Amino acid sequence: MKYGDSSLLNIEEGEVSEISLDYSRAEMIEYIKNQFKINWNGLHGANHWARVLHHGKYIGKRRNADLLVIELFAFLHDSCRWDDGRDPNHGERGADFAYGINGKFFKLNDLQLDDLCFAIRHHSGGEISSNPTIQTCWDSDRLDLGRVGIIPSPKFISDVASEMIDYAYDLSIK
Ligand SMILES: [Fe+2]
Repeated sequence: MKYGDSSLLNIEEGEVSEISLDYSRAEMIEYIKNQFKINWNGLHGANHWARVLHHGKYIGKRRNADLLVIELFAFLHDSCRWDDGRDPNHGERGADFAYGINGKFFKLNDLQLDDLCFAIRHHSGGEISSNPTIQTCWDSDRLDLGRVGIIPSPKFISDVASEMIDYAYDLSIK
C-alpha cells in the first residue's frame, strides 16, 4: 500500500479496513456510540478515530505489529472521554471499558489485552514504548495532533511515523 492513497472511510458503515479482522466491528462501534458522552463529530470523535486507524494500519504493517490491537485502540482510546479538554482520567476509563468488552465484540488473548489496555491507559502521558504494537497506537494518535495545532515531535514517535508527519498534518486539518 502506498501511503496516502486510501481515502478516509466511514466508520459507521464498517468500511474502515481492507484487512478483514475477525471481530464484531459494527456492533462494537454502535455500543461505543451509545455510551459516548461528547460530540461524536468533535475533536476526539469518530473522524479522529478514523485517521488514527488509517495511520495505525500503515505503521502496524510496516512494523509487523498487531493490527487488531491497533484497530481496537483507534476506536476505544477516547471512547470514555467526558470532555474535549485534558480529561486526565479518560485513558484509565477507556482501558477499563476495553477490558470489560473483551469477549463481547472481540476476543483478545492475555498478551493482546494487556497491550491494548496499557496503550489506552497511558496514551496521553507522553511516554514511548519499545513494544511496536503499543508504540504504533501512540504514533497514530500523535500523528493526528495537527487538528489542535500541534506538530508531533519525532522524539515521541517511531521512525516510520516520523516519515509521515507532513502527510498526517495535512490530513488532520482537512
Ligand atoms: Fe486520540
